[in-house]
Amino acid sequence: MINLRRSILLMSVTLLMACTRATKFSADKELDYCITQLSKSTSSLTDVNRIPRSIDAGKKDWRFVSYRDWTSGFWPGMLWYAYEYTQDKKWEEQAKRYSAVLFPLADTAAIDHDLGFQVFCSIGNGYRLTQDTLYKRVLLRAADSLAVLFNPKVGTILSWPRAVPGVDWPLRHNTIMDNMINLELLFWAAKNGGSQSLYDIAEKHATTTMQNHFRPDYTSYHVVVYDTATGKKIKGITHQGYADSSMWARGQAWAIYGYTMVYRETKDARFLDFAQKVTDVFLERLPEDLVPYWDFSAPGIPGAPKDASAAAITASALVELSTLVADKQKAAYYRDKAEAMLTSLSSPQYQSRKVNDALLLHATGHKPNGGEIDASIIYGDYYYMEALLRLKKLKESK
Ligand code: GLY
Repeated sequence: MINLRRSILLMSVTLLMACTRATKFSADKELDYCITQLSKSTSSLTDVNRIPRSIDAGKKDWRFVSYRDWTSGFWPGMLWYAYEYTQDKKWEEQAKRYSAVLFPLADTAAIDHDLGFQVFCSIGNGYRLTQDTLYKRVLLRAADSLAVLFNPKVGTILSWPRAVPGVDWPLRHNTIMDNMINLELLFWAAKNGGSQSLYDIAEKHATTTMQNHFRPDYTSYHVVVYDTATGKKIKGITHQGYADSSMWARGQAWAIYGYTMVYRETKDARFLDFAQKVTDVFLERLPEDLVPYWDFSAPGIPGAPKDASAAAITASALVELSTLVADKQKAAYYRDKAEAMLTSLSSPQYQSRKVNDALLLHATGHKPNGGEIDASIIYGDYYYMEALLRLKKLKESK
C-alpha cells in the first residue's frame, strides 16, 4: 500500500514537472533566437566558398572551411531549417546557394564516411523541403559513392581511408561510431530510386557496429579496428575521447541518434531496444545541467570542458525516440529529458547571444589534439536547431 502511494506520488510529481516544463519552454522563442543569430552571421558572409565551421573560445570570428571539410553540410542545413521555420524565401535563397557549393562531392570518389553528413544535412534537407529533382540526383550519386567504402568481409563502411594514427588502413579496416549517421543517406537512397543493396549495407553496418562497438554496459568505443582481409575485430580504441575505455560524449551521442534513426528506417525491434540501452547509460551519467563533459571520464571534472554539441545531438534524437517507444512512461521520460536538455542549452550559460554570432557556446571538437575546445561549433548549432524544430512539431501534433 505504501509502495502504491509512493508510486502514485512519484507519477504525479513527474507529471507536474512535465506540465510545468511544457508550459515554460517555448521552442518558437528559441528558434526566433536562432534566426536572430543567423541573420547576424549572414550579414557579414559574402563568399559561399567559405563555409562557417567554428568560433574559438574568446573569439568573435567564424573559422571557415571549404566544401571538402566534413562539417560543410551543417551551415547549409541550418539555412534550410531557418527557411522551414520562417517560410521566408530569403533563407531558401541562401540555403540553395550554399547547398550548390557541395554538388561536386557527389561526383568525386568518397574520401571518407563523412560524405553522408555533408550531403544529407544540406542537400537532403533541401530535397525534403523543395522536392527539387536535381537534389535527388545528387543525393543518389553520393549514396553510391559512399557505398564503395563498404567492406562485406567486415560488414561495415570504412570510416577513414586516409592514414590516421592507430587505425592503420589499408591493412586494417576502421569504423568510427560517428559513421552511424551516414547510414541515413543510404536508407533514404534505397527508398528513393537507389539500389536495395544500399539498405542492406546500412542495416548490416548497424548490426555489425551493435555487436562490436559497445562494452557490456552499452558505452561505446570511438573506433573499432578490423582485419581488412578476414573481417575479424582486432580492438576497440579511441581517437577523440579521453581513453580507449572511456565514454566519449559525442561518440555516444552519435550512437543514440544513429540507432534511433536506424529503428525509424528498419522498424527492427532490436534497434529500438538498443537505442534505449545506449541512451539510458548516457542519461544516467549526465551532470546536473544535462550537458556532458567532453568525455565521461575526462580528467578535471567538474572543471573539464563541456560538449554542448553532444547534448544538442542527443536532445534531437530524444525527441524522435520519444515518438517511437511504445511504453508511455518511457516515452514521456525521453521527451522530458529532451526538453530539459534544450532548456539548459537555451540558458545564458550555453547560448552565445552577444558573445559571438553562433548559436551555442561550450562545445568541444577534438580535445586530445587541442582543437576547438570550449568553442562554438557548427554541428552543435545544427542539431540544436533540428531538436527545436522537432520539438515544435511534436508539440503542435498533440
Ligand atoms: N565526426 C567527427 C566528430 O564528431 O567530431
